[in-house]
Formats: sequence, C-alpha cells, structure tokens
Amino acid sequence: MKRIAVFTSGGDAPGMNAHIRAVQRVSEKRGLELIGITGGYSGMIAGHFDLLDRMHTANIVNRGGTILKTNRCEEFKQPDGREKAAGMLKKHGIEAVIACGGDGTFHGAHALATEFGVQIVGTPGTIDNDLFGTDFTIGYDTAINTAAEAIDKIRDTADSHGRIFYVEVMGRHAGFIAMDVGVACGAEFIAVPETLTDVELLYKRIVAQGIEKRTIVIVGEGDELGGALKLAGLVEERYGLSGKVSILGHMQRGGSPSVRDRVLAARLGAAAVDALLEGISDVMIGEQNNNVSQIPLPETWANRKSVPPYLRDLASLLV
Ligand code: F6P
Repeated sequence: MKRIAVFTSGGDAPGMNAHIRAVQRVSEKRGLELIGITGGYSGMIAGHFDLLDRMHTANIVNRGGTILKTNRCEEFKQPDGREKAAGMLKKHGIEAVIACGGDGTFHGAHALATEFGVQIVGTPGTIDNDLFGTDFTIGYDTAINTAAEAIDKIRDTADSHGRIFYVEVMGRHAGFIAMDVGVACGAEFIAVPETLTDVELLYKRIVAQGIEKRTIVIVGEGDELGGALKLAGLVEERYGLSGKVSILGHMQRGGSPSVRDRVLAARLGAAAVDALLEGISDVMIGEQNNNVSQIPLPETWANRKSVPPYLRDLASLLV
C-alpha cells in the first residue's frame, strides 16, 4: 500500500486536528503518502485532494475545529454522488481511507465499502458520544468541560438572583452530555432524550429547592418535550413559575481540545493507519475498556449506546 487518505465529516469536534496530525505522523513512519480530503464527502465528490505532510499538520494539535473542514453532504446520499466519490478516489490512486465523524459519516463509509469495494475505516469524531462500540468519542471530553464551565458561570447569576435556569446542551439523540454535566454541575434536574421527562417531578424539585432560590435544570436538546424553551414554557404554563433559558449551542463544539481528547484522537489515528495496513475495512476503530477496539460500522448505529444507569441514579441521589 502506498497512498491513503483522511477526511473529517459531520459536525466538527475538538480533537479532530490532533487526529489528523496523528494519522499524518504514523503514515509517514509507515512509508505511506497521505492525502487530505477537504470538505468531507462533498470534497471527495469534487476531488479536493491534497498531499498532507508534516508541514501541513504542524501546530494544529491544540486547535479546535478541523483543518480539513467538514459538512453534511446531501449529494453523497444519492447513488450518483457516491459513484462520483468512489471514482475520484480511484482516479487519485487512493487505496484506503480514514473517515472521522459520527453516524452519518459511518453510513457513508459503509456504503463506499459495500457498493464500491473501497477500503475504509471510521474513527469516532463527535461531541455527542453516541456511537456504540467506543466508550468515548473524540470531542466529547472537551465539550462537557466547555459546557460545565459555562454552567458554572450561569450558576453565579442563578444563585445571585434566585432564579430558575434551564440550560440546554447539545446531543441530538443522546443525553450523555446532559447527564455528565448535570451531575458535574450539581443540577437539580436533568432532562434527557432516553427517558420521559416528568414535569411534575421537576416542579417538586423546584419547590423542594425553594422557589425563591436557585434551580439549575439541564436539558439535552434531544429531550422528547422539545428542549429548554419548551420545558420552561410548560412549567410556566402549568405552575406559573418563570425561568431563564440559556442555550449553549455550538460553543460546545469549539475550543482547544482537552488532554483526554488529544490522547484518544492520537491513539485512534495511529490504530486506524495500522488497521488499513492490515487490510481491515468497514469497521470503526474505537476504544473500549482502555483497549483499541474494532467494530463493524453497521453495528455502531444498529445498537444504541445508552447513558450508564449509575449516572441516572447518582443524579437523583445528589439532588
Ligand atoms: O452531532 C453533533 C451535534 O453538535 C449535535 O449535538 C447537534 O444536534 C448537531 O450536531 C448540530 O448540527 P449542526 O451544527 O449541523 O446544526
């Protein structure tokens, strides 16, 4: 094998650059030429391929975002788009690919592998931590620390004014971020997509806390009631209690990656290059119980990774 490629896709996640750097360093050590595909699957279709050498990946280990850019590509969801992408890989002599992203990225990678025989492995890059087969995803640790820092600040205001604050955190279908930061920040109530949100219980918690005092409610954006604004509206409508809403949004995706994310990104980058050299394809390279793991791509989305039950119990014990 002589030439491989790497790209990032889906939502950006802190640590993607550390991952790209690791892929470059290990490719170089193994005598491989590395191509960076800019702009995710759109870039693959358009042929945005450039040599990625040591110079291009210098000084990026601590940077958020992704130097290879990213997007969510509609064209690639169509068979024509995928055919063009596979054709471009062939035209540029790319023998194997590393795709860093979330479940949308992995669906695409699996399609390239099965429909066109492309040798491709996925690496988990998403702040949501919602991929089955890896204990953590690249970007998650930084995102929860960013969110916790913001919530600590909101607590100061909530406490000073004796207000109810509904803080919405990211997590399209999963409550990992909400549960972890809820426990870490001493929230009185945590609403996640995995369980039905009990508005009456929330009201009771507010009363138990003292309605004139601070209450912090963490709401995962994927919660079935529709997010922090909706939940705040319901409590106001039913119980006449108003609160402030703060939606943390994309700030959770930015910033310099934490040490844990950089190390995970580097480890999985190195393992991905070696997996390609061993001829492995159509799997995600993840980390389970501190060991590098390989799991077929379809299993990463067919199984649901759930928020650990101990965390839910802990959250209720601590209020
Ligand atoms: O998957 C990562 C994520 O940040 C989710 O938490 C969120 O729902 C989604 O991406 C937002 O996507 P976009 O940046 O495309 O609006």
